[in-house]
Amino acid sequence: MQDSFGRTIDYLRISVTEACNFRCVYCAPNGHVAPQTSPLTVEEIERVARAAVALGVSKIRLTGGEPLLRRDIVEIVRAVASVQGVRDLALTTNGFLLARLARELANAGLNRVNISLDTLRRERFAQITGVRAISPTGTSEAQPERQAGESARQDAFDAVWAGIRAAEDAGLAPVKINVVALRGINDDEFEDFARLTLTHPWHVRFIELMPVGANDAARELFNRHFISADELIARLPELAQSDAPRGNGPARTYRLPGAETTIGFITPASEHFCNACNRIRVTAHGAVCACLFGSNQMDLRQVLCENVNENALQELLARAIGSKPEQHPSGDDFAIHVQAMSKIGG
Ligand code: 5AD
Ligand code: SF4
Repeated sequence: MQDSFGRTIDYLRISVTEACNFRCVYCAPNGHVAPQTSPLTVEEIERVARAAVALGVSKIRLTGGEPLLRRDIVEIVRAVASVQGVRDLALTTNGFLLARLARELANAGLNRVNISLDTLRRERFAQITGVRAISPTGTSEAQPERQAGESARQDAFDAVWAGIRAAEDAGLAPVKINVVALRGINDDEFEDFARLTLTHPWHVRFIELMPVGANDAARELFNRHFISADELIARLPELAQSDAPRGNGPARTYRLPGAETTIGFITPASEHFCNACNRIRVTAHGAVCACLFGSNQMDLRQVLCENVNENALQELLARAIGSKPEQHPSGDDFAIHVQAMSKIGG
């Protein structure tokens, strides 16, 4: 299906939960607000996927929050993978619970994963994610209260690293590592991240920081830590233009000489890619967002709950696609319109 500006919409992102066991500085530094209602059920998610596929969607990504916190995440994957016409089923995760789930997820029909990892240094990991590691002597430092209970004593950085390896072993390929570029926090690690493509079959994608939320703290974080993809690319002189890997989004892609995998740059702040936008989003609570930065949302819950015929669901999704704005606001307005990523699906 095309929207009113002639863009083909073939990509649906479904957030399966707002909950997260991390509280990343740029997303939820004060923790996540517990939602009032429960998220969509497995059946509801499957019906949304089916309706979207009927309208021409062929790529689906499960997001959050942290999707692996859903105890029924394997069932969700199985249900969505069972929908005829889903050609690419991916999931975005912080990797913390991935090691134990990767194989089951792959068996249930998941094709690939993107794993968020903003530092390769254990001590820095706690600073960015709000999740403390266990000290080398084995004494555990205070855990944030939202830490997933059963895993609270596990070294978080090691868990994520094991998750990446498990994804690779399970064939959830191409594994992509998403790095939010943060001036003064991880900008001394860009080369280390880039070099991962020389030693591992993983794609690395740097993401420009977005100013999430309209409050002073968010704005200050953005002003202090934003670094543009142009500056980042200038700091990595060995990059050469290269082809895009499978399932590539709106990323500029490069490759280090001799590397099998690529280094991408996603530039929500410095460049609009609205004219190439092919996606819609459904939140964990069943709202359709035609645009990440738009405020107009439509609620699918009613048509889902009433169990009315599937046409009503399709119609509502089609209406949301038809309401996609041509582009999102820029400049100062940009910040005001961005909602918390864990709410809308990162
Ligand atoms: N800026 C850029 N990316 C963000 N994410 C969340 N918040 C932001 C932000 N403010 C993305 C990161 C993270 C994923 C879950 O959502 O890529 O890895
Ligand atoms: Fe970090 Fe993603 Fe969790 Fe937000 S949703 S706190 S970015 S891991």
